[in-house]
Amino acid sequence: MTLDAAAREETPTPRQAPRLPGGRVPWVGHAAAFGRDPVAFLRRGRGRMGGDFAFTLMGQRVVFLCGRAAHEAVFRADETVLSPREAYRFMTPVFGPGVGYDAEPEEMSRQIGHLLPALTSRSLAGHVRLMEEEAEGYVAGWAERGEADLVEVMNDLTVAITTRCLFGAEFSGRLGPDLPRLYRDLESGIRLAGLVSTRLPLPSFRRRDRARATIGGALARAIEERRRIGRADAGRTGRTAPGLGRCADAEPRDVLAALMAARTPGGAPLPDETIIGLLIGMIFAGQHTSAVLAAWTGVLLLDDQARVTELLREQDEALGEEGPLDVPALRRMERLEWCVREAERLHPPLVILMRKALRDFAYGGRLVPAGALVMVSPAVSHRLPEVFRDPETYDPCRYGPGREEHAHPYALIGFGGGRHRCVGTAFAYQQVKVVWSVLLRRFDLELAEGPHLPDYSTLVPGPRSPCRVRYRRRGLRRAAAGLSEARR
Ligand code: HEM
Repeated sequence: MTLDAAAREETPTPRQAPRLPGGRVPWVGHAAAFGRDPVAFLRRGRGRMGGDFAFTLMGQRVVFLCGRAAHEAVFRADETVLSPREAYRFMTPVFGPGVGYDAEPEEMSRQIGHLLPALTSRSLAGHVRLMEEEAEGYVAGWAERGEADLVEVMNDLTVAITTRCLFGAEFSGRLGPDLPRLYRDLESGIRLAGLVSTRLPLPSFRRRDRARATIGGALARAIEERRRIGRADAGRTGRTAPGLGRCADAEPRDVLAALMAARTPGGAPLPDETIIGLLIGMIFAGQHTSAVLAAWTGVLLLDDQARVTELLREQDEALGEEGPLDVPALRRMERLEWCVREAERLHPPLVILMRKALRDFAYGGRLVPAGALVMVSPAVSHRLPEVFRDPETYDPCRYGPGREEHAHPYALIGFGGGRHRCVGTAFAYQQVKVVWSVLLRRFDLELAEGPHLPDYSTLVPGPRSPCRVRYRRRGLRRAAAGLSEARR
C-alpha cells in the first residue's frame, strides 16, 4: 500500500452535515422558525440531529457548527476559504462601499488598524473618567427614589459614552437628543431579508438609510470643522460635566482624531467617506451590543441580592473612601468583571456569527461545501455542559481561581475569536464595569418584575421590555455601609 493510500484509509472522508427535516417551502426553507427565535431553532436542531446540521434560509444553504474545535477551525480559517466579507454583505449600506467588511480582507485589516490607537490601554485609561462623568451626570437627574427601564437606561448611557469617547464632544452636541433614535434606526436595518438584498423596499431599510445619511452628514461637518480649526487640541474628548470639573491635558484623543491622522500605504489621508464609514461601523459594532451586555449584567445580578452585597463590599475595597475610579480600581473589581462575563455567557449580545464558504471547508471529519453559509452561535455554544458546568445556572464564580471555565480561547466567544476577534472588547468591558460601579454605589436597586426573557425579534437581543428597576438613592458614603444602614 502506498503512503497516500494508507493516509486515506486512516483519515475518513469528511462528510457533509445532515440536513434538518422540515422547512419544505421551496427557497424560504426554515426561515420562519429561524426568524421567530434563532437561538431556540439552532438549539432544537442540534438536539434533534445530534450535533452539526444543515438547513435552508431564503435559498441559502446554511451549516451550523458548534463546539470549541469548530469555533477554532472557523475563526482561524483563511479568508479565501471562509469569508466574513461575503457573509456580512448586508452591512454594506451601514459601513458604506469599500469600508469594513465591504473592503478586501487586507484593506479591512488596515482600516481596523487605524482604529487601534484610540483603543490602546493608554486611551482606555483616559476614557475611564469620561465614562464615569457620563454615568454620574445621567443619574444626577434621577429622583430620590423611583423606577427606570434598565434597557432604556443602558441604551442612553452607552450612546452618550460611546459617542463622547469615540467621536468627541462636538459630534454629540450636534445630534444630541436624536442620537439614540438614529442609532436604533441604523440597527433596525439588519434583518434576515438583508440576506436576499439590502435594497428591498422595506420601511426598516428606508429608516436605516435615512439614519446613515443623517449621521454621515453630521460626521462630515465635524471633520470639516476640525480641519478648519486645525487646533492642536481638536479631537480631545473632554467636556465639562456639572460639578465634576475638567483636566483637558489628560483627555485622550478620540477615534475621529486618530482616523484624521491616519495615512494610506501611499501616504495620503484617508478619504472622508472611509473615515465616516469606519466611525459609523464602530457605533454599530459597539453601542447597542454594550447596552445589551450592560442590561443583562444588571438583570442577572439584581436577581441575586446576596451577590449585590458581595459586589458592594468589593466596591468599598476597590475604591476606599470614594477614591478615584481609575484603571487600577477597576482591576480590583474582579467579581464585578465575573458578573459581566457571566452575562456575556448567558446572553451574548451577538447570538450568531457567520462566514461564507468560498471553497470546500473541512475540519474534524466534517465537510462544508463551497457556497454554504457557516453559522456559529455564542448563545448556543455558551450552554454546552461539556464546556460550562451547570450551564443554565447563573454562577459568576465559575471564572474565579481554580475554575476558570473560560480559559480555553474558544469556549467563551461573545466577542468572537481568532483573526476577527472584537477589537472593542476592553472598551466594552470597561464601559459596563464603570456604569455598574456608579449605579451600585449610588443606589439600592431591585428588579420591579421578572422573569426577563431575551427579545429575539432583533439580532442583538436584550431583555424584553418592560425591564424596570426600582431605585433608591444612597448618600455619598461607603457602599456596603450604606446598604446595611438603608436596610436597618
Ligand atoms: C458588548 C459589546 C460588544 C460585543 C458583544 C462585540 C462582539 C463582537 C464580535 C462577536 C465580533 C466578531 C464578529 C465575527 O467574527 O463575525 C466583533 C468584531 C468587531 N468589533 Fe465588537 N463587540 C462589542 C463591542 C465593540 C466595541 C465597543 C467596538 C469599538 C469600539 C467594537 C468593534 C468591533 C470591530 C471593529 C470588529 C471587527 C473586527 C475584525 O473583523 O477584525 N466592538 N465584535
